Amino acid sequence: MMTSTVILGTQWGDEGKGKITDILTEGRDAVVRYQGGNNAGHTIVIGDKVFKLHIVPSGVIRQDTLSIIGDGCVVDPFVLMEEINILNGMGVDTGMVLISDRAHVIMPYHRFTDGLEERARKEGKKVGTTGRGIGPCYQDKAGRFGIRMGDLRYPAILREKIERGVERAGDMALKLDVEFDMNADKIMSDVTDCYGFLSGHIRDTSSILTEMVQRGSSILLEGAQGVFLDIDKGTYPFVTSSSCSSGYGSAGSGIGPLDIKRIIGIVKAYTTRVGEGPFPTELTDETGRRLRESGREFGTTTERPRRCGWLDLVMVRSSTAWNSITDLALTKLDVLAGIDPVKVCVEYEIPGKTADESGYETVLRYFPSHIEVLKEVKPRYIEMEGFGDISIDDLRNIRSTGEVPEPVSRYIDIIERETSSKVSLLSYGPDRNETIILDQRIL
Ligand code: IMP
Repeated sequence: MMTSTVILGTQWGDEGKGKITDILTEGRDAVVRYQGGNNAGHTIVIGDKVFKLHIVPSGVIRQDTLSIIGDGCVVDPFVLMEEINILNGMGVDTGMVLISDRAHVIMPYHRFTDGLEERARKEGKKVGTTGRGIGPCYQDKAGRFGIRMGDLRYPAILREKIERGVERAGDMALKLDVEFDMNADKIMSDVTDCYGFLSGHIRDTSSILTEMVQRGSSILLEGAQGVFLDIDKGTYPFVTSSSCSSGYGSAGSGIGPLDIKRIIGIVKAYTTRVGEGPFPTELTDETGRRLRESGREFGTTTERPRRCGWLDLVMVRSSTAWNSITDLALTKLDVLAGIDPVKVCVEYEIPGKTADESGYETVLRYFPSHIEVLKEVKPRYIEMEGFGDISIDDLRNIRSTGEVPEPVSRYIDIIERETSSKVSLLSYGPDRNETIILDQRIL
């Protein structure tokens, strides 16, 4: 029986969640985004048309599935309006898209201050944000002067909040000696137009979900980014401003934690990272370049090249434990084709420091909390026979477990042994049928 399931990235985002989400959406009553905003990106293919979605949940392409942007999200209403318009233009019915009235609104001045804050950070300290206003919007939320989607119904409240927001952004521009020409009247009028377009979609989605859970509906909670971009568990401050952990699947949607029965962690067969911050298994050599090229590792939202490295099981082990992951889905296996040998990081060492000096044991099996420790760690690898003789076609033609080539099986065994979790799905190409479901219960 299908129940409520969370799907989340176990690394630094871009694990290939879009395709797996699409597979797991089939037959669901609702798909819910519970954190983040249009910093995420996933590609959907409808016939010969390809479209990159940033905020609308991927359930939108299925009739009869509610696509909910939940309480914990931040929403740029202009981007959302544009996505809905484009989807409509492609013949997609967007009537089932609902936006929580508790979700926070990204305003034009949030985008502006996102850029300013990034500019003001010194070299080496830049976060490398997507520039979509995510951080400043969550700052306003935590500061308790944010604008929620529900505020769009109340022009007087909205106007006062916009005025304060513009004033604060103006102060910051003045301090940094940057030109600033935003005014509250114009923003108010643009947002009001936008509200006219979106109003039919704005609802108390927590209550809707509560009733759905009571009726026994099947709901997929779609996490964005990944555990190591999580504001608490990630490589702070090189993180996003929301919680990307499974626990927030409950808080950011309104579905109680005990109503979530399955938590699926997506693991890419190697590691990538966009933006700045330490990356222990990074490969700056030919292998790294090869992973980037064959894995098409360029950001969906920003098109920036992604940094690439070996699979890091210290990360995946930590993700699995912290998030009560019940199943792993291993993606992009085809990208390792032809690479021999293959390495997998199973522990970190902190060379040359005593436990008292670093605050940690000298060998780490779980991800450290401080980036200064992370910068110093040396990965301990298991080197194994690679996928040298296995061509991409060999992988893509697999149709059952028995056909999984030996080196791939060994790779899976190591992942399962080191994370104490089970791999329930393999993906080795972008297409839906380039997938093996090892445990049907995840569907
Ligand atoms: P922000 O979310 O735009 O504030 O960016 C903060 C950090 O998170 C930056 O390093 C971004 O590159 C990264 N980031 C945000 N969204 C994604 C994503 O969907 N995939 C990968 N990295 C992301």
